[in-house]
Amino acid sequence: MKKTLYSTAFLFAASLLGTSCNSSGTKATTTISKDSSNKKWWKEAVVYQIYPRSFKDSDGDGIGDLKGIISKLDYIKSLGVDAVWLNPIYSSPNDDNGYDVSDYQNIMEDFGTMEDFDALLKGMHERNIKLVMDIVVNHSSDEHEWFKQSRSSKTNPYRNYYHWWDAERGKPNYRYSLFDVNHDAWKYDSASNAYYLHYFSQKQPDLNWENPKLRQEIYSMMRFWADKGVDGFRLDAFGFAAKDTSFPAFPKGFEKNFMQYYAMGPHLHDYLKEMNQEVFSKYNVMTVAEGTGNTMEDAHGMVDEDRKELNMAYPFEWVDIARPEGYSILHLKQVFTKWDSAFADKGWMAVFLANHDQARMVSRFGNDKPAFRELSSKMLNTFILSMRGTPYCYLGDELGMSNAYFSAIEDYNDVATLNEYEHQKQTGGDLKKFMQHVAFTSRDNGRTPFQWDSAVHAGFTTGKPWLKTNPNYTMINAAAQEKEANSCLNYFRKMVKLRKDNPALVYGKYTLLDKDNPAVYAYTREHEGRKFLVLLNFTAKDANVKTGVDISKGKVLINNYGATVVSEILKPYEAVVIEL
Ligand code: NOJ
Repeated sequence: MKKTLYSTAFLFAASLLGTSCNSSGTKATTTISKDSSNKKWWKEAVVYQIYPRSFKDSDGDGIGDLKGIISKLDYIKSLGVDAVWLNPIYSSPNDDNGYDVSDYQNIMEDFGTMEDFDALLKGMHERNIKLVMDIVVNHSSDEHEWFKQSRSSKTNPYRNYYHWWDAERGKPNYRYSLFDVNHDAWKYDSASNAYYLHYFSQKQPDLNWENPKLRQEIYSMMRFWADKGVDGFRLDAFGFAAKDTSFPAFPKGFEKNFMQYYAMGPHLHDYLKEMNQEVFSKYNVMTVAEGTGNTMEDAHGMVDEDRKELNMAYPFEWVDIARPEGYSILHLKQVFTKWDSAFADKGWMAVFLANHDQARMVSRFGNDKPAFRELSSKMLNTFILSMRGTPYCYLGDELGMSNAYFSAIEDYNDVATLNEYEHQKQTGGDLKKFMQHVAFTSRDNGRTPFQWDSAVHAGFTTGKPWLKTNPNYTMINAAAQEKEANSCLNYFRKMVKLRKDNPALVYGKYTLLDKDNPAVYAYTREHEGRKFLVLLNFTAKDANVKTGVDISKGKVLINNYGATVVSEILKPYEAVVIEL
């Protein structure tokens, strides 16, 4: 469900409301055509996600930038990854760190210039790395020229670029806002005596996709980037773009089926088909849908090849699983297995455990205590790199970077965290409980500066970083890990290579083994006569696994303890890939 994206606000609200965060009504589609021979570069790619603000600062202003990324291209190449998904780099007042765009065809001043962008793209292409842009078009910034025009009067030609509700009609029906202090998605604007809609913050007004002029402007903007040679697009929050614009009252309990009421409206597929015709079909680009509605049918509806919409689903159901109170490994296995089966024959999905909207992978799904951080990071990377679907590695996860667990609200930057704090304050919420919650869940945990070395501020900047550096950088950093053959970083590189060398790990059939084992995730990947067994102990204790095969006859290809022979008793967080 979409609410997982903005874990701070929504999960906290959900825990108070007692709403479930699991997707419902999920059923694998049955209209299937075999396409496993349908090989594509983006299926074989390993994607590395860069949150530019946090990666590398080149000019000492404390903010990561494009020149910083350019200076680290050889590092990115050394990971063995094929593509980079770059979070938004467009002009923005940064209410939501670039997800509030004020000019789609310009570069954010903090990040550099268009020349820097061109140099970055060139540098990536010279190294055979593809670039995937983040396209944020469910909403713009309120500082975008379109919105300035739109709000200026009811008769302005840009009025219909956004959703307005005249105040003469009374207050519109309630809509939940994910980032608003009052959770109210309608903001009164006195300039024209009307309310505008903002599913995210007040500075992120929703664009009106029903307006064909707006749609054409967006497509032309996308062609501008595609003409520059970018290799793909990730569509931000696009499910929200299509909605019922009569804005009817919602039934009680609507939050349990949030996406159904707020998003995935009847025109969604018309927009995506049109976008495909107007943009994607003209270029060799990879296209990813952020979130894919509630169900697998929704996801298939967006990414099956014959529909000519998008290429790849980026489902959210599994990100919900890790909670401050822990999670069930059986549940994790069941969710991944269900999603794998849905794409076994048709369509394609992304596999990931973290991104810029989540706290750190190792802190949520692994164990960031000193004894287990490294082992469990390696185990989780073994997992995402051995599943079917395109693996996405979020920056720093190759090093096993962990949560910063800030305790003071002043240390946070994220609009979702800060506004929800304000909401709790204004409504008499339990602030102590809230702070405990965000220490684990806040998106800022995943946004602390990249840990390059043990110099001050982790070598990220010579200035003051925009977000505090995690103090553990003196121990966890890329420079130290370069020198250590068995570091998380070098393990990650080996695991990427293993995947790239073995098409079975990309295209192979996935079969879950020892299904009811509450500690170990075991599966095989099989393709063109080759068979790989993956065993992952997700716990801090020794665990037994029953694979039903004689693993002593297999060849150990990688093991996070460095063992070349393994048994069916796995050590804490042990990960192994065996060719049978
Ligand atoms: C999804 C993005 O991943 C997130 O960072 C952002 O805050 C919202 N969409 C709004 O654009």
